[in-house]
Amino acid sequence: MENFTFYNPVRIHFGKNQFVNLKDELKNYKNILFTYGKGSIKKNGIYDRVIDMLSDKNIIEFGGIGANPEYETLMRAVEIGKNENIDFILAVGGGSVIDGSKFIAAAIDYQGDDPWNMLSKYEKFDSAIKIGTILTLPATGSEMNGGAVITRVSSKEKLAFGSHLLMPVFSILEPEVMYSLPDRQISNGIIDAFVHTIEQYITYPVNAAVQDAYSAALLKVIINEGTKVLENRLNYDANANLMWAATMALNGLLAAGVPEDWSTHIIGHEITALYGIDHAQTLAIVLPGVLSVMKEEKSEKLLHFAQNVWDINVNDSNVAIDMAIYKTEDFFHSLGIKTRLSDYDIPKSAISKICAKLENKNFIKLGENKNINPKIVEKILISQK
Ligand code: NZQ
Ligand code: ZN
Repeated sequence: MENFTFYNPVRIHFGKNQFVNLKDELKNYKNILFTYGKGSIKKNGIYDRVIDMLSDKNIIEFGGIGANPEYETLMRAVEIGKNENIDFILAVGGGSVIDGSKFIAAAIDYQGDDPWNMLSKYEKFDSAIKIGTILTLPATGSEMNGGAVITRVSSKEKLAFGSHLLMPVFSILEPEVMYSLPDRQISNGIIDAFVHTIEQYITYPVNAAVQDAYSAALLKVIINEGTKVLENRLNYDANANLMWAATMALNGLLAAGVPEDWSTHIIGHEITALYGIDHAQTLAIVLPGVLSVMKEEKSEKLLHFAQNVWDINVNDSNVAIDMAIYKTEDFFHSLGIKTRLSDYDIPKSAISKICAKLENKNFIKLGENKNINPKIVEKILISQK
């Protein structure tokens, strides 16, 4: 196992009727920026429940943070946050609202020229407004990590940044909020959590027995409970299991002491930046290509995956690995998510554009072995055209 330091201070309130914890969590803050998305919380009652809990606070609302949160929109909230002297941000939504709120939190305190430099130039920052979250869509793990992914429309860029300063102070996870999600967003969440686990698991072995066993178990839970949620959207236990699995898939625990890949995500972000398709849809396209093209160097972990996640027990390991990759793509299809660029009307000519964008950004060495160059990205995408 590799050396590691693990730190995760996010307090989780999980289960039924957890909004009551807001009162205590916010007792030391006065001016609260309440951020949310494009309106789902007003339809499903979450907005009213939050407002009820905040009656003694000075609330400044900022709604309208859309999927793949945009720098241009978020900068308006930064202005408001500065003028209103806010001391806490309460983010109520999915990964996009939470990520957008993390950017706002860092940008309000940012002292340099343009807060975008925190993403494009990896500029360090040493303070941020504190945030808390109410999660409405299990998928990204943003509720229990310090990362965020922001899109800049003007330059068609989608970039990640992160810091322990952006880890929420608390996150409230009530599985019943999932009942109002469209099926497509449940499927997206299943795929996102699945691929987060794979990015930290299917690399090369370092004798990390806990992490390997834990990743395989988490993938089985995501497959089984995710399928149950789609069969009966009101199955509380299945929703609860899926919600907690998605959080656990990206809270730092799986990555501790093991190599990480993340090539599927970095390639996927370029596809969203250029063509606007959902984050999880990009992952469903790219992951089967990455696993097939990088099969040889990932073979030991792919075999572990075949045997421990898909219960494949055949003598020929090559056959087992091919079956596991096939079953993975088939699982994505069973969720109603397609896996080819052409399924989303993305032409073959897009492949060279995506490779050129990666090359321009110096993302030329992806993967756990830093050897996925633009030529290999091209091969991966051609296999999924
Ligand atoms: O905007 P509203 O009206 O709230 O609607 C949202 C949005 O349309 C809707 N929704 C959310 N909760 C709902 C609901 N509709 C009904 N009932 C509810 N309870 O769902 C739609 C999608 O929401 P979004 O937040 O965009 O989805 P998700 O949670 O999948 O987040 C995706 C974003 O997170 C980033 C992605 O790149 C993408 O920008 N990621 C963040 C990560 C992180 N911070 O660690 C890691 C991930 O790999 C990912 O990159
Ligand atoms: Zn993701």
